[in-house]
Amino acid sequence: MNIKKIVSEHRDFLGATPDAYFSPGRVNLIGEHIDYLGGRVLPTAIDLGTYAFVTKRDDRQIRLLSHNYQQDGTIMASLDDLTYNPDRGWANYATGMLQALIKRGMVATHGLNILIYGTLPNGAGLSSSASLEVLIGHLVCEQYHYAVDTIELSRIAQQVENQYIGVNCGIMDQFAVAMGKRNHAIYLDTESLDFEWVPLELKEHTIVIANTNKKRALADSKYNERRSECDVGLAQVQAINPSIENLCDISYGQYVKLADQIAPEVIRRRVKHAVTETDRTKQAVVALRANDLEKFGNLMDMSHESLKNDFEVSCFELDQMVDSFQKHGALGARMTGAGFGGCVVAILPDGQLDIILEKVRQEYNRITDYEAEFYRCQTSDGTHTITKEEWR
Ligand code: GLA
Repeated sequence: MNIKKIVSEHRDFLGATPDAYFSPGRVNLIGEHIDYLGGRVLPTAIDLGTYAFVTKRDDRQIRLLSHNYQQDGTIMASLDDLTYNPDRGWANYATGMLQALIKRGMVATHGLNILIYGTLPNGAGLSSSASLEVLIGHLVCEQYHYAVDTIELSRIAQQVENQYIGVNCGIMDQFAVAMGKRNHAIYLDTESLDFEWVPLELKEHTIVIANTNKKRALADSKYNERRSECDVGLAQVQAINPSIENLCDISYGQYVKLADQIAPEVIRRRVKHAVTETDRTKQAVVALRANDLEKFGNLMDMSHESLKNDFEVSCFELDQMVDSFQKHGALGARMTGAGFGGCVVAILPDGQLDIILEKVRQEYNRITDYEAEFYRCQTSDGTHTITKEEWR
């Protein structure tokens, strides 16, 4: 969809020529469900994301309209009352960011009209919420001339998600969205927030994101449940060895020695995933730098096995899709994001790309009854302002 056309459709809502902003989504290549355990992750920002078009108001109203949810109409909030309100639905991401930044010292001098247009499939595990949070954070800082370091902005967005929205997520999504860099993945240590951009130039291969179109059922409650299970696991290993600070610090050798003492068995498997996924992510970065995509693909396959069996965050549709990719010639495939539905990420050889996608599409549909959707992953820079020349 042409963004110029969208803006002109909402001319009355905006009232003047708007400022424009874009925030990417993200896909995680490997390092899943360990960003809240002090582990290392390897996401990349993608060119599907969220746009915002913004004009000033003379009053203290924030008026929000989503092109994608026009049935919700215009949602209003006063700058003087930004408390969470379930009736505001998706707009709570915006009020949450505004409230957090105002508490931090930003002076919001006037109201805004904010038109949102998203190109990410919702609930597909590609971080539409982090994309929106960081987008609002970035645009209000620009509108109110308030300076915040980009990494700090991603932390604020994570806090909003944790405390205001009530999802206990880690830092990966907000960080990837804010700090994305075209043609690069982000190798992030979620404990220290040290990171490196790793070039993502896959010769003769393409990263494909495949949407199962199975909505992520129960993802939030199961997500919080996994976090609590990991807390139990950590308390048990710390009772044995108090120098262990987080689960991802444990080497595989150490884990083997500790395993017998971690109980019940389900907690042991959660700890095992944290330990093995950390190892796989480290190895995957070495493989990527050496352009050893076979190895990278194997590590993705193993990551999926671990998420399915040890961490238990996959589902029938994700497993089926991964299985089809592996069978029909992908170098590697795995679920990506929180799981329980959503997307798979796979690496495919360019020469067979179309054939593989067609085979996977047919097989997946025959077995699950869902229609798969595929996106060739294009990387993106992090959340940014779009110049007038770029969109008008
Ligand atoms: C969600 C969370 C992230 C991360 C992933 C799983 O996307 O928001 O913080 O935990 O799940 O890796």
